[in-house]
Amino acid sequence: MKNIFFVGFMGAGKSTVARNLQKRLKMNLVEMDERIEKEQGMTIPEIFEKYGESRFRDLESELILTIGKEGNTIVSCGGGVVVRPENIEYMKKNGMVIFLSAKPETVFYRVKDSTNRPILNGNMNVEYIGELMEKRRALYEAAADVKISTDGKSIDEITDEVIIAI
Ligand code: S3P
Repeated sequence: MKNIFFVGFMGAGKSTVARNLQKRLKMNLVEMDERIEKEQGMTIPEIFEKYGESRFRDLESELILTIGKEGNTIVSCGGGVVVRPENIEYMKKNGMVIFLSAKPETVFYRVKDSTNRPILNGNMNVEYIGELMEKRRALYEAAADVKISTDGKSIDEITDEVIIAI
C-alpha cells in the first residue's frame, strides 16, 4: 500500500478521518501539525507569531518531503499544504491524495471555537472562510485523486467512502 494524503480546508475532517482510517487499516499515521508542534516544541500559533507564516510553510514542506518515504503511511496534511506546488507534486508522486471538502458553513460550525488556527484569528466567520476556500479550491482540486464531500456525513460514513475509493 502506498501513502494516503488527506488534503482539504481547515475543519474538513482530515485528522479525524485519518485517525479513524488508521484504526481500520494497518498503516502508519502522521498528523502534520502535531508533528511540527512536537519537533519545534511550540504550538502552531506560537510558530506563526514568532517566525511568521512563511517559516511555517517551510517547516511544512520540509516535513512532507521526509514523511511517507517508507510508504504505508496515512498523512493528515495541514490545510495550507497545497499552496506550495512542490508539495502537491511530491504527494502525487508518492501516494494517493484524498481531498475532503466541506461547505464554508460546515467548516465554520466545526472550527468556530478553536483558537489554534492563526489563519482564522480575527477572521472567524463564514464569509472569510468561503473566500479563502475559493482561493484554494483549484489547488485542492489539482492535488486530488479522489474528492469526498463531508457535509452531513458521520466520520464512519466518510471513512467507508475512503476505503471504497482506495
Ligand atoms: C492551516 C491549516 C491548519 C494549520 C495552520 C494553517 C491553513 O491545519 O496547518 O493553522 O493554512 O489552512 P488544519 O487544516 O489541520 O486545521
